[in-house]
Amino acid sequence: MKRLKIPILLLAALLCLTACGRRDRPGDITEPSINVTFAAPTETTEEPTEEPTEPETTTEETSALTYGSVVVGKSANGYAIEERDGCTYVDGILIANKTYSLPQDYGPGELTDECYEAFQKMESDAAAEGLDLYIGSGFRSYWTQDSLYNRYCAQDGQAAADTYSARPGHSEHQTGLALDLNDISDSFGETAEGKWVAAHCFEYGFIIRYPADKVAVTGYMYEPWHIRYLGVETATKVYNSGLCLEEYLGIDSAYRD
Ligand code: DAL
Ligand code: ZN
Repeated sequence: MKRLKIPILLLAALLCLTACGRRDRPGDITEPSINVTFAAPTETTEEPTEEPTEPETTTEETSALTYGSVVVGKSANGYAIEERDGCTYVDGILIANKTYSLPQDYGPGELTDECYEAFQKMESDAAAEGLDLYIGSGFRSYWTQDSLYNRYCAQDGQAAADTYSARPGHSEHQTGLALDLNDISDSFGETAEGKWVAAHCFEYGFIIRYPADKVAVTGYMYEPWHIRYLGVETATKVYNSGLCLEEYLGIDSAYRD
């Protein structure tokens, strides 16, 4: 009996390490602490098992085609609009807005590695300047969003809810590439943290997704706390353009019904 004890202890320690490795990354949450006052808004894919076949295309923009995707059109700015597994990509960027939705079962279950690592770097650099950044809401599944959206509809009516909450399938939180910072309050943009994020988040690959002066384009009120990961190169281009993502890509954001 005695001889078994050490291997058992080793196995238990290994299991614990595996289980605890990601405990600090927020996954899906049922009750994000959204603190929005509507009345006064300040406004790894799997490896293909078969040999990939070349898409039958001749135009040059198809060189950027992702395996398995189908080009369904071009954006107003000339970017390829591709569909893959029910998701829409414009210039390779996964889009979730009022026009383009995600399948119910889509979702990485937590923020993607790249997005989370970028947040950690940003958080660490902000902390070095005495600023406190934390994730108020990260990944949200289709069903979590469904429950949130329905609650807001019951509370404020659908027209109002549509100005600040995405319908299920339309939230960027379902992509694992978007997160809400700190206490998700209207005043976040006026805090030292909010100002720092607005000025620096592109350096880490994020954009403020719903800017104050783009409400009519994004379809959502100003959300200084909601940042979307695009990678440093694209986020820098979007930031320098002064455009929101819809304008930059040449797409719209509007529900069909
Ligand atoms: N608040 C943003 C629009 C969302 O619900 O995803
Ligand atoms: Zn958000």
